[in-house]
Amino acid sequence: MGNKKLNYIISKVDDMPVLPDRIKKIIAITEDPDSTIQDLEKEILKDQSLTSKILKLANSAYYGYPRKIDTVSQATILLGFQTIKSMALASTVSKMMSNELKGYALGKNDLWTQSQTCAIISRYIAKEVKFPNPETAYIAGLLRDIGKTILNFYVEKEYHAIINKVESEKIPFLEAEEEILGFNHAQVGEKIAIKWNFPEELVEAIGLHHSPEKATINPILVSIVHIADAITMMMGISIGADGLAYNFSPFALEKLNLTPNDLERLISQSHDLIIDEDSFDL
Ligand SMILES: [Fe+2]
Repeated sequence: MGNKKLNYIISKVDDMPVLPDRIKKIIAITEDPDSTIQDLEKEILKDQSLTSKILKLANSAYYGYPRKIDTVSQATILLGFQTIKSMALASTVSKMMSNELKGYALGKNDLWTQSQTCAIISRYIAKEVKFPNPETAYIAGLLRDIGKTILNFYVEKEYHAIINKVESEKIPFLEAEEEILGFNHAQVGEKIAIKWNFPEELVEAIGLHHSPEKATINPILVSIVHIADAITMMMGISIGADGLAYNFSPFALEKLNLTPNDLERLISQSHDLIIDEDSFDL
C-alpha cells in the first residue's frame, strides 16, 4: 500500500475527537489524592446523562441499601472514585464505538457491546489475579478495539484482499489487516490512547492486546486484556476445543499463572458475569 494511504490513516487519528474538557476534568479529580467528594460531585452534576447513569448504577449495585441513593455524593462514596472515572470515560467513548462497522462485520452497537463485555471481564480477571488496579484493566478492556473505528473504512474497501490473505496464507485477520493496510487496529488504538494522554501502561495494553509477549511496561495488564479479549470474542461465536489453544497466548496465561482449569472456570464465570451485569446498558 502507498505511503499516501498510510499518512491518511495517521491523519485520521489526528481527526479523532479529543476527550471533552469536562471528562478530562473528572478524570483529573479522580486521580488527585487531594480532591474531595464535593469537587467530583460539582463536575459530574454538569453532565446530566452521566449523573443519571451514576445514580442508576449506585442504586442497582447497592439495591439492598436501606434508602434510595439520590445524590451524586452518596453514589460517589459507594462506588468509589475509580469507578466514576471509568464511567466518565465510558460515557464518552460509547458514542464513538456505537456506529456500524461494516469492514469488521459489526452492526450498530456491536463494538460497544463487545467493548463493555471485554471491560467487565478484564476487571474480573484483574481482581482474580490480584492486580492492584482493576479499574485500569476495565478501561484498557473497554478501549482495546477503539482503533477499529478508524480502520473500518479501509478494512471495508480491502475486505476481499484481507479475507483472501487469511484464507490462502492461513494467518489471523489481524495479520492480514496489518499486511494489507500497513497497520492493525491495535496499533491505531495505541495512537489514539497517546493522543488522549493516557498513562503508558494503558497505551501499551491497547497496542499489544493481540501480542502480549511484546509487553515491557506492564505485561500483567496486557495479559489480562488479552485473555479478556479472547474470552469476549469466543463468547460471540462457537469454537471447538482446539480453537482455544490458538486464541489464548501461552505467554499471557503464564504471566497470570492461569492453568487450563482456571481458564475454563474464568470462561464460565464470564458468561454469568455478563448475564448479571446491571450496568450493561451504560
Ligand atoms: Fe482487537
